[in-house]
Amino acid sequence: MKFYFAPMEGLTGHVCRRVHHALFPGVDRYYTPFVTATHTHSFKQKEKHDLAPENNEGLPVVPQILARDPEDFLWAASYAASLGYKEVNLNLGCPVGTVVKHGRGSGMLSDPEGLDRFFDAVFGKWEEAGLSGVSLSVKTRLGMTEPSEWERIFAVYASYPLSEITVHARTREDAYKGIPRLDVYGQIREKYPDLPLVYNGNVFTPEDLTLIKERFPGTEAVMLGRGLVADPALVRELRGGESLTKKELRAFHDRLYGELTETMPGTTVVIGKMKEYWVHMGAMFPESGKQLKALNKARTKVEYEGAVRVLFNTGHLTKRKRSLI
Ligand SMILES: Cc1cc2nc3c(=O)[nH]c(=O)nc-3n(C[C@H](O)[C@H](O)[C@H](O)COP(=O)(O)O)c2cc1C
Repeated sequence: MKFYFAPMEGLTGHVCRRVHHALFPGVDRYYTPFVTATHTHSFKQKEKHDLAPENNEGLPVVPQILARDPEDFLWAASYAASLGYKEVNLNLGCPVGTVVKHGRGSGMLSDPEGLDRFFDAVFGKWEEAGLSGVSLSVKTRLGMTEPSEWERIFAVYASYPLSEITVHARTREDAYKGIPRLDVYGQIREKYPDLPLVYNGNVFTPEDLTLIKERFPGTEAVMLGRGLVADPALVRELRGGESLTKKELRAFHDRLYGELTETMPGTTVVIGKMKEYWVHMGAMFPESGKQLKALNKARTKVEYEGAVRVLFNTGHLTKRKRSLI
């Protein structure tokens, strides 16, 4: 079984990827948070940094691209290829309003014919763009509003040589609510047994993985997002190894905090960023509501570090509850 670290905007940037890989090796691929391909054919400084090989040394990284226009996507894929990347991933799932409004992310799912034209243009010029040694994978939701939209969307995917299709089994309207639509994921697998599907959604514990393996035998790869941010040792545990210890989470936190402090401008920004991680890591301390609240209120370095100390000193790292039932 292969395990991929999901792209998560604001969380899984190069600093997090490096720290995670150093302390918890064993993830097969790290997908970057999306970088946006626009008509300007240039990336923002932050995006360039995230893709720069010197920031990703020794990591198995796949750049994820958000696009609408085939020419812009080809430019972005060629940029990634020029840095040595051998796979690029197209974002077909982002539910954010401004992204969808511009016809990107899950917005591309609202027009399967347009999606077909997009792939036709992209694959038609793949070699000409110098991309013959590079594979193209996608990460998709089931559709915009109705789960049945998958039928037309997957008919499109099935007609192109996509290296992998990661399925976050929710619609855009579902956002992150409830349990992913496993029944629909099952229908897709049944109709297209030969498609290289990767399962994604709510795998937080070994029990969740067991359910996926039992329900969908032959699953070869699973992508993990929130579960792996909360519990950086999750892949080790899913492979049959030890579960996370408090000491390990502390070490992960401290190194992440330390490296972000070196690379980000100012304490307020760093503390704000750490709070984004705590949205997920806090799930490891379900009995420490008060301490987590204090951490969330911290404004200064002293307050933040004090709150972290109290949380680790007093909190009980607790096995997470299974998410998929
Ligand atoms: C804060 C946050 C940021 C995300 N950013 C991205 C992104 O940049 N690209 C993407 O394809 N999905 C993104 N996602 C979706 C995740 O990759 C993943 O599909 C989703 O969280 C479901 O998987 P999980 O249940 O394992 O977390 C994001 C999700 C969250 C919560």
